[in-house]
Amino acid sequence: MLDASGLCLFHQPYPCGLPIFQGPIQQMKILGIDTSCDDTSAAVVADGQKVMASIVNSQIKLHHPHGGVVPELASREHIGNISSVVEEALSAAKIGMTEIDGIAVTVGPGLIGSLLVGLYYAKALAYVHQIPIVGINHLEGHILSIFLEDRVPSFPFVVLTVSGGHTSLYHVEDFGRYGLMGQTLDDAAGEAFDKVAKMLGLGYPGGVVIEKLALAGNKEKIRFPRVFLGPGSLDFSFSGLKTAVSLYIKKWVESEEERAQVVMADIAASFQEAVIDVLVQKTMTAREKTGVSSVVMAGGVACNKALRQRLEDTAAEEGLRVYYPRPAYCTDNGAMIALAGYHRIIHGERADLDADVRSKFSVEDLASLGGGG
Ligand code: KG4
Ligand code: ZN
Repeated sequence: MLDASGLCLFHQPYPCGLPIFQGPIQQMKILGIDTSCDDTSAAVVADGQKVMASIVNSQIKLHHPHGGVVPELASREHIGNISSVVEEALSAAKIGMTEIDGIAVTVGPGLIGSLLVGLYYAKALAYVHQIPIVGINHLEGHILSIFLEDRVPSFPFVVLTVSGGHTSLYHVEDFGRYGLMGQTLDDAAGEAFDKVAKMLGLGYPGGVVIEKLALAGNKEKIRFPRVFLGPGSLDFSFSGLKTAVSLYIKKWVESEEERAQVVMADIAASFQEAVIDVLVQKTMTAREKTGVSSVVMAGGVACNKALRQRLEDTAAEEGLRVYYPRPAYCTDNGAMIALAGYHRIIHGERADLDADVRSKFSVEDLASLGGGG
């Protein structure tokens, strides 16, 4: 619905003052931008499904010596990279800005300084090119990232989103309809991987290096605690495990006898096994509670091959289908944001040009898209 001057009135409560998309939905190209943490990413996705280009500029080298992301360094780096990353995505997609039908940008949750860079860059592009813009919840991006693949689950399904900032289980009924079933009460699983790697002097990010080291270790060597928080609970807690590993490493460093029996790879493998036990068991409990037949796993930790294998084996015993995106779509990327943006834009949702970022942003606070999509 347009007013006399051709501006969009349709999408209350998201008035943007920009023209609403009127072209055929079959040719809708969305530019997705994510700068929520330490990756500057941009992608062009057609029809909410076909990835025309996805560019990620990783800041790993910058943060590696610090053993974790330094927020001030991250935002400064985003400022230097954002325009070249967007230009690279457009050029890889072989299109210009004039062919973009809408912009989707992450507005939270994440690091405020980092989020602001993406949002203000996206607002400026939307204003200059007079195209719709929509603010996206980063977690919705991870939840929907499986739809960037050819093999997709049918609704409803259960998704475990497991990364450096979040560990949550959702019951997904449709695009835009997510029921939170459980989440971490303290550290995210990826954060535990990163912290244990730091304790072992392995640098940041920890997941990949712990996974590699674990291949040479004995996962039965040390029995680290598995915290289940009571029967049927779908919440997670990894801080106790992190403390147990830290106390063990202290003892291991100080005791020559212990070091003669246990190598660093055993610690990595035993820690990883404890995380996998909890993640898989709770995912299966969520599946059982909902009665769905498909289970999805997304987010950076979902790259972990041992975790994937365990989930597949456990699900196979019950005749369930398991889905996870390729590693490039598990870790942070602009394509999942463009995909989520497509579904919100076609439902008329828009960001106001004075929209702001949110460090905390629950999926439960999202506007429902209703059925279909
Ligand atoms: O999704 P992501 O790129 O960013 C967030 O939204 O947090 O996830 C990054 C996290 C880091 O904590 C990293 O250590 C973890 O994912 N990660 C892994 C693996 N690859 C990345 N954890 C375990 N195994 C992996 N192979
Ligand atoms: Zn993420």
